[in-house]
Amino acid sequence: MPAVTETKPMRGQDSTTDPTAPMVSIRGVSKAYGTNEVLHDINLTVNRSEVVCLIGPSGSGKSTLLRCINFLEVYDRGEIRIEGRLVGYTEGDPRRRLSNRELRDLRRNVGMVFQQFNLWPHMTALENVAEALVQVRGMDKVAAAARARQMLARVGLAEKADAYPARLSGGQQQRVAIARVIAMEPHLILFDEPTSALDPELVGEVLQVMRDLAADGMTMVVVTHEMGFAANVADRVAFLDRGRIAAFGPPREVFHESSEPRVKQFLQTYHERNSF
Ligand SMILES: Nc1ncnc2c1ncn2[C@@H]1O[C@H](COP(=O)(O)OP(=O)(O)O)[C@@H](O)[C@H]1O
Ligand SMILES: [Mg+2]
Repeated sequence: MPAVTETKPMRGQDSTTDPTAPMVSIRGVSKAYGTNEVLHDINLTVNRSEVVCLIGPSGSGKSTLLRCINFLEVYDRGEIRIEGRLVGYTEGDPRRRLSNRELRDLRRNVGMVFQQFNLWPHMTALENVAEALVQVRGMDKVAAAARARQMLARVGLAEKADAYPARLSGGQQQRVAIARVIAMEPHLILFDEPTSALDPELVGEVLQVMRDLAADGMTMVVVTHEMGFAANVADRVAFLDRGRIAAFGPPREVFHESSEPRVKQFLQTYHERNSF
């Protein structure tokens, strides 16, 4: 008798994801706001456990590109896949947008950290982290609280579990926001300038948490102006300029060997601003 082919998806895994596909694949993606084309034919692959930093001048399209990855922004042309799964549109019928339910399912494995921390002011740090575990994952409250406590410990905030956001520094609030994301066990985390709202002395503690996540093998796409972080933590850096990727490669190549005048100019301005 011929062997029966096993086609049933693994429990908890969507049948359309492909474990051998790159974490993110962006092919020929363009996007316009009205007549303003802000992304032009973007091609970018993010491998599993890779950290890719998006750098470049303000208005170059970094946030738009990041937000297209989980379809917070609609892209007009090309395709984006997460773990092989088409983002935003129906496989085989790419004109049909995914329903809200399908989008929620697609985003289940994708965490996002914003410049603003967006914590609930009326909830403690622990409650902020536990909330989605109960509401979205259906965990019981005791288990969710235990997991939230572990996640707070991972970002160095075990002692602050019962503090309300107003009693935490910006750096601590952002670490709570990161704990809230990692509690959901994402496969991928998108960061949009996670340290840009922080006082300079608080930036380091958040970058350290991100460094630890990277060391643990988390796949991360990070929009940042922290060139030191990009240079030291990123596996690859993409420099965006007016909606195009003007340079892409390991940090050493982009920072020291790029012949692109726009890259050189950007880095020179950065160094001038950040030296005394
Ligand atoms: N919601 C929007 N409506 C119209 N234009 C937008 C919108 N969001 C961003 N833009 C424009 O798209 C371009 C890229 O913006 P953005 O992706 O935010 O750049 P960055 O994150 O690199 O600073 C800019 O010209 C910006 O003005
Ligand atoms: Mg931005």
